[in-house]
Amino acid sequence: MSEATEEYHTPVLVERVVEFLALGPTRGEIMDGTVGGGGHSAAILQRIPESRILAVDRDPEALERSREVLAAWEGRVRFLRARFDEAARGAGMLGPSLGGALLDLGISSRQIDADRRGFAFRSGEAPLDMRMGGGAEGGPTAADILNQWEEEELARLFREYGEEPRGRRLAAEVAKRRSTRPLKTARDLLDAMSVAFRGKVGPKEKARVFQALRIQVNRELESLEAALPLIREALLPGGVLVVIAYHSLEDRIVKHTLKDWSRSCVCPPALPVCRCRGEPLGTLLTRSVVRPTDSEVASNARARSARLRAWQRAE
Ligand SMILES: C[S@@+](CC[C@H](N)C(=O)[O-])C[C@H]1O[C@@H](n2cnc3c(N)ncnc32)[C@H](O)[C@@H]1O
Repeated sequence: MSEATEEYHTPVLVERVVEFLALGPTRGEIMDGTVGGGGHSAAILQRIPESRILAVDRDPEALERSREVLAAWEGRVRFLRARFDEAARGAGMLGPSLGGALLDLGISSRQIDADRRGFAFRSGEAPLDMRMGGGAEGGPTAADILNQWEEEELARLFREYGEEPRGRRLAAEVAKRRSTRPLKTARDLLDAMSVAFRGKVGPKEKARVFQALRIQVNRELESLEAALPLIREALLPGGVLVVIAYHSLEDRIVKHTLKDWSRSCVCPPALPVCRCRGEPLGTLLTRSVVRPTDSEVASNARARSARLRAWQRAE
């Protein structure tokens, strides 16, 4: 992997991703639905002979970067700026075409480091934007949500998407402040958090509130839920889906969906005998979730929360 890739974003669980995707049929493209800095794609192209990649990202900057990183494999990579659910719909439009698909969810280290995009609370002056696709996709920013949503809805957002137990207090403080001046920057939100959390605003609190807003701004759970069945339909027989999730809300969706697709019987539980005689749609390749080793976590802190699951469509 090139040094440039490492600086932008260090990909996680690379060996396992390649190992699973190598099980798929080589005649189909592999959709990297979250190409980011191109680290996973580079490893796939290097290690799976004859593989071809459909490189997708909703962030135009990420796509530009991956174009540079993957330039050495010209002719084996196509690039598409889109959400991965849109890309999957396109890939399956004329029937199954994919040998594999990878979703490495969330945001890249680069997006977190780019203060002007408002993904992190590091710089107080950063605008509360958080749209992964920048202005290209439109849609409300984090500031729009904070300034326009009902207090009750904000409280639910912090609690459900941020798993922040004091979400109600924060929502009340935001509502109070915006009645005199709209929240615009990370500093404005940090000030509200400081009052609501009685001065205790550490990395954990920041991460929870940041996560809640980011998930909502980018409609991340909706995109994932829409994408999974579309990817399944776009996979060729024997095609493999690999998903890496970084928080329990995403992982829960992936876990239940893949488990559901691997069941041989889809009769209601109350039925005493199986009537459906259903064939499973495919096989779960990861009986239990795959996590990074201690040494990977020691060299890349971001890997700490990664959870990988893989599934193979029936032949
Ligand atoms: C964790 S990073 C991926 C890093 C990449 N695997 C690498 O090796 O550099 C996630 C990337 O997915 C993109 N992304 C997140 N959700 C997306 C979606 N629904 N559709 C398309 N891209 C998405 C983000 O813009 C970001 O660039």
